[in-house]
Parts: sequence; structure tokens; C-alpha cells
Amino acid sequence: PEPSVYPKPNYLHPLVPAYISEVEDAKLPDDFLWGVASAALQVEGAAADEGKGPSVWDFLPHRWANSVLDNTTADVAANSYYLYKQDSLRLKALGIQSYSFSISWPRVIPFGKGPVNEQGVKHYDDFFEDLLSNDIKAVVTLFHWDTPLALFNSYGAWTSEEIVADFVRYAKLMIERYGTYILPSYKYTTVWYTFNEPQYCNWRFSGYPYGSLLPSYNGIGTGGVKAAFLCGHYTLLAHAEVYDWYKNVFKGTKPMSFKNSANWITPNSTSAADAEAVQRVNDYNMGWFGGPWTDGDYPESLRSTLGDLLPTFTQEQKDKIKGSADFYALDGYTANIAAAPPNGIAACAANSSDPNFPSCAVTATVQPDGFPIGPNSDAGATWLWSTPGGIRPYLSFIENEYFPKVKGKGIVVSEFGFADPAESQFNTLGQILWDLRRADYIQGFLDNILAARVLDGVNVTGVFAWAIYDNFEWNSGLGTKFGLQYVNLTSQERHPKASMFQFLNWFKLHGQDQ
Ligand code: NOJ
Repeated sequence: PEPSVYPKPNYLHPLVPAYISEVEDAKLPDDFLWGVASAALQVEGAAADEGKGPSVWDFLPHRWANSVLDNTTADVAANSYYLYKQDSLRLKALGIQSYSFSISWPRVIPFGKGPVNEQGVKHYDDFFEDLLSNDIKAVVTLFHWDTPLALFNSYGAWTSEEIVADFVRYAKLMIERYGTYILPSYKYTTVWYTFNEPQYCNWRFSGYPYGSLLPSYNGIGTGGVKAAFLCGHYTLLAHAEVYDWYKNVFKGTKPMSFKNSANWITPNSTSAADAEAVQRVNDYNMGWFGGPWTDGDYPESLRSTLGDLLPTFTQEQKDKIKGSADFYALDGYTANIAAAPPNGIAACAANSSDPNFPSCAVTATVQPDGFPIGPNSDAGATWLWSTPGGIRPYLSFIENEYFPKVKGKGIVVSEFGFADPAESQFNTLGQILWDLRRADYIQGFLDNILAARVLDGVNVTGVFAWAIYDNFEWNSGLGTKFGLQYVNLTSQERHPKASMFQFLNWFKLHGQDQ
């Protein structure tokens, strides 16, 4: 029987069509890029082994009370630092084409700058070789939030321009080393991502995941709105520098981009004020980083709300940032609604501690039984409401309305996934592996992506499920489960869940050999 924590699902909501029968027979092209995803901090463990330096995320759970919901740490996680060989054999056996993962900066350069840790580099050499020998394509993210703690301590990490040169040095080192593995060997295109979800420079999303915004530690990093936008600014400068070097000096030919955290936003009512709220949320979620990509600068609506809190680019920087991504990478999980702020835009814009600042809109996750407005948080329950139907209109909107200038570049859904808060309460393997809610979400989400492609003509070129297996979900800890495989945290055994087979079967039905 289902545990009592489940509310009654109501699949009548228009954004929750589970299956789309019109795409039943549609096939994906051979070069469609698909697989599963992870990030170093969330899966590797071996936090203090073989010369690795501490990241802000090794520090937080140990040193700052209540920074992680269930008080777990990422010290061991899924232990993939040691178990990667069996992980890739399992991916191969399941027939998964590509693996999207990140490299840990403090494993390679323990203190962010200074000496390179040869053992760490050797580990990634083996890791890349191993994927290659199993014919699994590597989709590599250079930075997925595990900022070296030393850089935070010495200059406040992403709040200081000094981080640009340190990141660029690390990125070049990795691309020079692994570009050759990735470049000639694979039949299909593989990808570089510089940054994962820079939107999380903003502490309001879920705390301080990007690691720049710890409350004052050693007297630095006081956080706040200014720090959030400096973090975004230096991320953009670092990204553009790496992109420019990769294309023009290294002469890299693989697509390079950065992964964006954004979701379909629908208005709370038909009022003009709510429509404007939607626009402001899009300018914030997509425009903060996408505006500089398409136009060389931040969107006007951000500038008008933020004023001097939003840094400015020089002309040379604008020119470098514009065009510095080969496609749009979207980590889109759900759908949200937006409404005008209760006290009006002017009052919100004048007060940077207003909870709706800086988009000056009230947002909430769309729930299957209606559109209630509540606080957004990424702790547990929000994910229960993950709404697969939002991705289809969103993909068209991105290509045709929000980024029409870059139409044709393509969109990769670089992450989508579902965490069921009830899953951590299950206590038999059978219950855990019978994850029909996730399976249903996956089916609905993939059908919607296919419908966007074949019925709406959107150039969506790939999709990755989050996550390869259960892992450390940042502020929510090990108890929040996103995996398509279960990990027994005592024995470290992995077991595919029903959703994994649903995922694989879906690709098989739509023309992907496994
Ligand atoms: C996006 C992030 O990139 C990833 O690290 C996180 O675990 C998932 N979303 C789920 O919240």
C-alpha cells in the first residue's frame, strides 16, 4: 500500500498529461543526445582522499549547523570516486549512451590556485579512459558548485574578480587534458559545460549552493543581493574567457555552453499585471545569463529593478560574452506560476530585502490540483509537484519568443528529474524500486519533449535525466532521492528502479538502439 503521506494525485490538470498519443510512433534521430547526469560533489565521496582540497560544500555540513535539512554530509555519498568502474559497466549494460558529470575543481587544484594534485588528475585520466573503453560519451561540466574553500577564505570566491583567472586556469588545464579524449574518439557529439546553473548565485533559491554566499566567515562573504549579482557577473566573465580560448586558441570543435536553471512560468490570472510578472521572472531566470549571451548585456527589466546592484560590462567584455554558447542548455524540472507582487512593483524594487526581489513577482510551483501560491523551496515537498507538461510550451517559448535571435542553435534539456519525498520513508527494497511516480513523470516529460520536437518543430537535440542514482541533494541532503538507481548507503550497492526501465524503454520505442 502507498504510504499515507501521499496526497491524492489529480491528473486532470492541463499541465499534467502523462502520455501524448500523437507521438507514440515518432522516432528520434541517431544523433539525439541522451543519458543520465550527476555532479562530482553529489556522488564522488572521498572528500578528503588522495590530495583533494576542501570545497565550500565539504565545509558547510560539518561546520554550519542546519545548513543541510537532514544533517547528512557529502563525505561518502555514492562513493563513485572508488566505484566508477562498476558504474560505467552498469551504464553500458543498461544501454545508456552518454554520461553528464562534473569534475571537482578542488580535487584537481586543492586550494583553487597553486599546485595541481597529480593524484586527482590521475583519477580523472582513469575515469575518462574507462568511459571511453565502455563507449559512453562524456558530457563534462567544469564547475558544479564545489568552489575550493581556500578561494572563499582568501578573497570571497565568486564575489571577487580574482576568481576569473583562477577558474580559467583550471578550465584550460582540464580542456587541454581531456579535450583530446573527447575530441576524436566518439562517433557522436559530446559537450563541454563551463558552469552549472549560475542562477544559484542567488542565495534565495535555496540557500547558498554556489558557495559564495556563506554568512560572514573569517569576515568575508556577507552575502546579499550585491554579492549574488557579482557572482553572476564573474561567472559570465569566466565563462566567456574559457569559451573564447576554447574556440579561438585551442580550436575546439565540440559544442560548449552553460546549464541554466529555469522553468515554464504561467500567469496566475489573465490580468496584464500577472503577464508582466511572468515577463520579469523570465528576464530574471533566463535573461540574467541569457541576455548577455544573445545581446551582450543584462535585460532592461533587471537593470531597472536592480540599478547599481547589477554590475556593468565594458564594451570588450560585452563583445566576448555575446554569442559565447553554442546552444541553450536547460535544466527544467517543473512549471511555475507568477503573480504581481502584493505591494506593487515600485515598493518591491525599492526594497532589496523584499522576499520577491529582484523579479518582483510572487512565484510558486504549479500543483496538479490547482494553482495555489506558496513559498518556493527545494526541500522535499516541492518536487512532488513536478509538472511534466510545462516543458512542451516552454521549449517553443524559448526558441520562438525568448531567444529568437539564436533560433536554430538548439536546446538540450541538460537535466530533468523528480524527487518523491515519500521515497526515503520506504523500508523495503521492493517499495523503493517500485517508483511509479517517477516513472510516470519521466514518461510524461519525455513525451512532452518529443511533442515539442516533432509536433511543434522545436530544435531540441538532447535530454539528460537527473540523476544516475540517489545522491547528496545539497541543502536537502542524502534523504532527498532523485536517482533512477537506488544506492544502499551501507553496502553502496546500486539497483535500477522501475523509472530507469521506463526511461530506457522510452528511448527504445522512439528509435534509439541500446
Ligand atoms: C539541478 C542541479 O544541477 C543538481 O545539482 C540538483 O541536484 C538537481 N537540480 C535537483 O535539485
